[in-house]
Amino acid sequence: MGNPVLARRAEEVTDVAARETQALIADMLDTMARAGGIGLAAPQIGVSRRVIVFYPPPDTPERPESLEGIEVRVLINPVITYLDAEADREEDWEACLSVPGLKGLVPRHRRIRYQGLDADGNSIDVVAQAFHARVVQHEFDHLDGILYPKRLTDLSKLHYIQEWNPLADEEDAT
Ligand code: NI
Repeated sequence: MGNPVLARRAEEVTDVAARETQALIADMLDTMARAGGIGLAAPQIGVSRRVIVFYPPPDTPERPESLEGIEVRVLINPVITYLDAEADREEDWEACLSVPGLKGLVPRHRRIRYQGLDADGNSIDVVAQAFHARVVQHEFDHLDGILYPKRLTDLSKLHYIQEWNPLADEEDAT
């Protein structure tokens, strides 16, 4: 947080097959795996391009216990359509690899449609809800220079993870 790359709008990818793009994707997947995150956006590794990677959680009402067996998704030049009203947003806790040690209560749309391209240039068109929709909105925000603290409506809901659970690590961070 504070790095200018994280604060500006990232640029569209013009050539998915380009070596540069494929290397970026590989680097992002590697970084996410090493950090134990469930999502990552290119600006988080210093590259101002519209690419996000994440594990699409099951569309369950609650946060899943485990993401085991879920295949990672690469989403390039994403577009989000909100499928519910602004007033119907719901709050839940989020953490972010670019804001280490903290978690905050963030309002997000419950249902969204997201579209874009995968790593092979194929179209992706998905309706997602609940935690799945939240993860995508969080990563999408990174491409527009928005870190989740900016979304908080109540700054008293920004907490140190350590205060919740002294044994907690940064799991769930995106
Ligand atoms: Ni994040």
